[in-house]
Amino acid sequence: MVELDRLLASCLFEIDGCKDLKKLYAVENLVLGKNGKITEMLKSLRDMPNDKKRSLGAEINAAKDSILQRIEEKALQIEMADLEKKLSSEFVDVSLPARSENFGSIHPLTKVEEEISNILSSSYGFAFADGPEIDNEYHNFTALNMPDHHPARAMHDTFYMNMLADDEGRKLLRTHTSTVQIRSMKASEPPFRLFSIGRVFRSDYDATHTPMFNQVEALLVEEGIGFSHLKWLLSDFFRKFFEVPDLALRFRPSFFPFTEPSAEVDMNYEIKNGKMILGTGDKWLEIGGAGVVHPNVLKNVNVDTEKYQGIAFGFGLERMASLKYGIPDLRGYFESDDRWRSLFSFSHFVR
Ligand code: FA5
Repeated sequence: MVELDRLLASCLFEIDGCKDLKKLYAVENLVLGKNGKITEMLKSLRDMPNDKKRSLGAEINAAKDSILQRIEEKALQIEMADLEKKLSSEFVDVSLPARSENFGSIHPLTKVEEEISNILSSSYGFAFADGPEIDNEYHNFTALNMPDHHPARAMHDTFYMNMLADDEGRKLLRTHTSTVQIRSMKASEPPFRLFSIGRVFRSDYDATHTPMFNQVEALLVEEGIGFSHLKWLLSDFFRKFFEVPDLALRFRPSFFPFTEPSAEVDMNYEIKNGKMILGTGDKWLEIGGAGVVHPNVLKNVNVDTEKYQGIAFGFGLERMASLKYGIPDLRGYFESDDRWRSLFSFSHFVR
């Protein structure tokens, strides 16, 4: 039958040209589907006489078998080609060197903040207290025994906010963490044993002064407390912090309006090969101020000065970190220089 031969030939040609399974099964449907050409031919046998039905039926079925077989072969061929393609595109060369991973690191300030917090809380029972970075003249100066026009206010190089003052004075960026003393004592009852760590701001800029830096402040208000406790506390604290058991501190008589007596604490160091070395050399770095809390400060927050006395200290965190980890210039802390970070920051894995 010529029509069948032609159909078979064109069908096999179509199958051979198929590039994917979708196309292949579309061809199959066109020929062998419910209304496919071969299916229609088989249906048409119904009306034929028996002898023709048998011979033609055999021919049509033989053509159908050839088509099915060719489709099966082609499907296998396409599947194999797809697999080859996938395998070659997903090839993993196990001999390639591993891609390097970039891990974050711990900034030296974060590290010393953690160390200081641990010592203050676990060795002496100080609790953390927080306060706002934007404060006002009352908390930053007045309540700390620096009334309006007190000369000590001028020493702080304050950044004031360009806003109208209210009954607590002008808004400002706090110049020290001593503001937290006032806020915490106002909010609670003595005894107090608290510390705060945070950013403070002053209009200052050179190798040992930056416009923003961090301070740690500690306040202890209890019965029978005096300067000797402060000296012991600071010596013990710094020996623990610097891990130097016989560390010497220099207490210089000083003046802070909110403490009396007051002292400035220095540590000796030298610079060797661009590194700061603590405890040797004849250079001194002032790392903080300390003293016995002035009774006026306690009165401003309604603490009974007949019963309670206080001691307090405030230190520069960058200077403590520099002395402990040999970091020479304070400006590097805030310049986001990757070379500085890789030199002075700490791994998450070795602590
Ligand atoms: C004070 O700020 C007092 N509030 C500290 C205090 C608290 C005294 C409690 C008594 C009782 P002073 O201005 O000295 O003190 O600053 C304390 C420390 O902050 C300095 O010793 C220094 O380590 C650090 N510091 C001061 N200015 C800067 C600056 N511009 N950059 C980096 N660190 C600074």
